[in-house]
Amino acid sequence: MQTVKPFPQMRKFIAILFFLAFFVSVQRGFCADADYKQVIISTNGDAVRVRLPLTDVTGKVRVKENSPNGFGLAIAPSKTSLGKKHYLEWQIGYDIPNTNSPSVVSEIRFTRNGETKYGHELSKIIFEAVRLGLLSTNDLAREIEALKKIPAAEFEESQPIQIEAETNGAAGGFQRAIQRLPQFTKTTPHGWVQIQLKQKQHAVGYQAMVYVCLPMNEVLTMDGSPRKTVPARSKETVYYDFNRDNAAFLLDIIHAFGLASQQHNEDARNILGKILETAH
Ligand code: ADE
Repeated sequence: MQTVKPFPQMRKFIAILFFLAFFVSVQRGFCADADYKQVIISTNGDAVRVRLPLTDVTGKVRVKENSPNGFGLAIAPSKTSLGKKHYLEWQIGYDIPNTNSPSVVSEIRFTRNGETKYGHELSKIIFEAVRLGLLSTNDLAREIEALKKIPAAEFEESQPIQIEAETNGAAGGFQRAIQRLPQFTKTTPHGWVQIQLKQKQHAVGYQAMVYVCLPMNEVLTMDGSPRKTVPARSKETVYYDFNRDNAAFLLDIIHAFGLASQQHNEDARNILGKILETAH
C-alpha cells in the first residue's frame, strides 16, 4: 500500500510550528515562574500595599534572622518557621531606565548624568501615598529642605573604611587583617531602614546600600490578615501596607537615601520635586 507523504516544504513548516509551540510554552513557563519575584505596588483606599516575594533568596528581598550586630543572618525561608525573630531585608529601588516594570510610575521622569530615569518602587509608593493623603505636600517640601541641608562630609559613602592589620600572629605566613564596614540604622515601630557600606562589585571603592527591613510579624497575606508563623511555601508572596500609622517610615527611607551619597541625595530631591509638581 502506498502512503501519502507530505511535501518536503510542508514537513519543514510543521517542524517549525512544533518548534515555535515548544519555544512559546517554555517561555510562558519561565515568565510564570519569574512572576512572583516582581514587586507589585497597589492601593486599597487607605493604604499603599506592596507585594514582595518570600523565596527569592538570590534577589532583592531576603529573609533574615535578627542578629545582635544588626546585619542579620540570611536563612532558608522554606525550611524555617518565620516568626518574630525574622524580617525581610528589601534592597528597595527608586528608579529604572524604562517603563517595563509593573512598579514604575511614568509620571515621575528625571535625568541623571544625561540619562532619562523613571520613578520606580519607593518613588511609586510615595507618589501613591501623596495621592491617598498619607503624606502631605508639606511633608515632601520639608524633606526636600532637610535633604538640601545634609553636608557633603556627612554622606555615608564618604566615611573612611578601617582596615586593621594585626602586627603579630601571621598564621602559616598569612597576615591577618580585619575590615570594618559601617552600618547606620533608623528604627521605627513598624520596621527599620539601614545604610550599609559595601565594596563595589564592578568598580573600585565602596557604595552605600539602602535596605528596608520589615519584621515578619508586620507582614500580611493576600486578604490583609497577619501571616502565620510557618515556613514559606514555594513562590509565596507577602504584603506590607503603608498606611496612616507608618507613613512617616517612608520619609525615613527617603532620608536614608539622602544620607547615603551625593548622587542619591540629588535623586531623592529630584523625585520628591517631581511628585510635588504632579500633586498640584
Ligand atoms: N539605588 C537604587 N536603589 C538602591 C539601594 N537600595 N541602595 C543603594 N543604591 C540604590
